[in-house]
Amino acid sequence: MASVPAASSGYDRLSELKAFDATKAGVKGLVDAGVTTVPRIFQDPAAAAAAAQPSSNHHDVAGSCRVPVIDLAAGRADLVAQVKSAAETVGFFQVINHGVPSNLLTEMLASVKSFHEQPAEAKAPYYSRDREPARRVRYQSNFDLYTSPAANWRDSLFMVMTQPVNEVPPPCRAVLPEYTARVRRLGATLLGLLSEAMGLHPGFLEHDAGCLDDGLSVAGHYYPPCPEPHLTMGTTRHSDPSFLTVLLQDDIGGLQMLVNDEDGRGSSSWVDVPPVPGALVVNIGDFLQLVSNDRFKSVEHRVLATAAGPRVSVACFFRTTDGSKVYRPIVNSLEDERPRYRSTTVPEFVGYYMDKGLDGRSKLEHFRLSDDP
Ligand code: OGA
Ligand code: NI
Repeated sequence: MASVPAASSGYDRLSELKAFDATKAGVKGLVDAGVTTVPRIFQDPAAAAAAAQPSSNHHDVAGSCRVPVIDLAAGRADLVAQVKSAAETVGFFQVINHGVPSNLLTEMLASVKSFHEQPAEAKAPYYSRDREPARRVRYQSNFDLYTSPAANWRDSLFMVMTQPVNEVPPPCRAVLPEYTARVRRLGATLLGLLSEAMGLHPGFLEHDAGCLDDGLSVAGHYYPPCPEPHLTMGTTRHSDPSFLTVLLQDDIGGLQMLVNDEDGRGSSSWVDVPPVPGALVVNIGDFLQLVSNDRFKSVEHRVLATAAGPRVSVACFFRTTDGSKVYRPIVNSLEDERPRYRSTTVPEFVGYYMDKGLDGRSKLEHFRLSDDP
């Protein structure tokens, strides 16, 4: 187990982390027990800074939404242009007419909520810190509990979609297979559009690069109401270890992404990714930024803790389970474009990501080649 960060000095952080972990009841367990303050292991100075910020506007000066909402029923050429523009700039967009029926969205959120709201005894058998492939279904509070500087006000149920359905916890068993089948189909559509946006044939990312084999990982997050939301984060800032992430969020809000300001000074601001009824949020992940050689942006995002709630979200991460597959930047050799990253595999990248945890630093930078020729 990695050493506990120095930020913890002044109290026995490791003992408190272990005591919390041993409950196997997560943050939900603390809230059920009636905590009225945020325990020290969850306290994060970034939360105070976020709380001090005026509520972020979702609109730029021209009044258009920062996070584009793309109607997948639009014509092909138009769609490719919209997806390209979003992927190259904000890295986030929302989609409507995405082919996942709205009752399935509602049921998926409800099933994750029911899992987390079961009695602690029902959830405890799923509680584990083992990683896949040893453990394809696991319930945890904070995958990086022992490595991150501050724990998050969040519990999660992780599922890798290669397991037999009887391994899926009962509350999710009925809806998960159908939901993920639909999201896979949506993923194929999106990867087709992104391939074309890169000037490649539509099947490139799905078939040639293998961004969409059986590698769909699902995280069902539960953010309990927080008594002191200015002291802790729902999810620390990070970018995703995926090609693409499709996120379903409920109507509570709190998701924010980092946007570069247009003041030419290189500063950036946090902007809300607002709940849009019936829509799914799509963001570019680290692998796609690597493969596209920085053309597409894997943008940092975070979730604020909130007194409202619980908040529920379901993140579907697209990444291959084929550990031998090597990924490297696709470069235009005619233009003498140089690769900006070294090649890597999914297990290498995800292993590094898990080991480091959400420490506020980009994991992609570790794979970046220096600028020197
Ligand atoms: C994630 C994530 C956001 C949310 O799981 O990587 O960013 O709204 N989730 O839960
Ligand atoms: Ni994320």
